[in-house]
Amino acid sequence: MKHFFPADDFKSCDGVSVPLLVIQVTEMKDGVFISFCYNHMVADGVSMWSFFDTWSKICSSGSGFNHKPLVLKGWFLEGIDYPIHIPVSETERSPPSRELSSVTITKEWIFHFSKKNILDLKAKANSEVASSGDLEVSSLQAVSAHMWRSIIRHSGVSRERETHCKIVVDLRQRVNPPLEKDCFGNMVYLTSAITTAEELLDRGLGEAALQIRKLVSSQTNETCKRFAEDWVRNVKNLKSGIGSKVGDTIVVASSPRFEVYNKDFGWGKPIAIRAGPSNSISGKLSLFQGINEGSIDIQATLWDDVIVKLLADVEFLEHVTIA
Ligand SMILES: *[C@@H]1O[C@H](CO)[C@@H](O)[C@H](O)[C@H]1NC(C)=O
Repeated sequence: MKHFFPADDFKSCDGVSVPLLVIQVTEMKDGVFISFCYNHMVADGVSMWSFFDTWSKICSSGSGFNHKPLVLKGWFLEGIDYPIHIPVSETERSPPSRELSSVTITKEWIFHFSKKNILDLKAKANSEVASSGDLEVSSLQAVSAHMWRSIIRHSGVSRERETHCKIVVDLRQRVNPPLEKDCFGNMVYLTSAITTAEELLDRGLGEAALQIRKLVSSQTNETCKRFAEDWVRNVKNLKSGIGSKVGDTIVVASSPRFEVYNKDFGWGKPIAIRAGPSNSISGKLSLFQGINEGSIDIQATLWDDVIVKLLADVEFLEHVTIA
């Protein structure tokens, strides 16, 4: 799979000298694999899928396609000194350490959630917290909570240890005044729902989903501003990828809201989607639209033994479709 993806070893901070976008099209005997690698400092999923949409329409309908002009809306904080410098220590490469080489014992697995699996999970989560007077948890929050609890149950972390569920926040519509929904750029950040393994497992699906729900709704203009301020003050380079070396964190990346299966470059509609190998250590989940309407596919990077235990876990499998 790795060979289908170009440039997966580029770092964002190398963007001054290496391409910001690399596309590879691999022709096979019975199909075509189109992949892309982009610099996440410049664009995010919303921007890349919108680019892909336009590009595929140009390919399939020729120059007659009338596309919307690109909305480039910068968003900058006042009172910050530009340019923002990346500390030298953050750009230095160290030879792969023992810690990093443990990355190789992770495996990938695709978990399918049918429309029925998702509705069941959502109903279960909402029935568990129905009396709390809060708003409903969404399908996505219920599915994320199910993955979070199931992975931590088998992660081997001690019960008193903190566990994080990191989710992506799109700040376009959260800043005030809001930005255009599909303006081009990188306008996302990661934020964490945090609890102990004990609480996560003892309290049930509903509470975990509700915690994610509350985290999402607490992201306001102020939180976005604080995130951006902290980021420029404390520039950090992603050293090994998103996920966890100790198995206590999951990262919910990508989104099933991105439309995949309507992208036709003139070679027919897509049959599957996969995330590339970059940026992942244990606990990274890439969520995609499934091929059947209303379904979700989760590409999980996890330690080998966690996958083995998940595939034998009746409580987990009750709401997952293993192809
Ligand atoms: C939102 O945050 C920005 C940046 O700090 C600030 O300039 C603006 O006044 C805030 N908007 C509201 C409505 O508070």
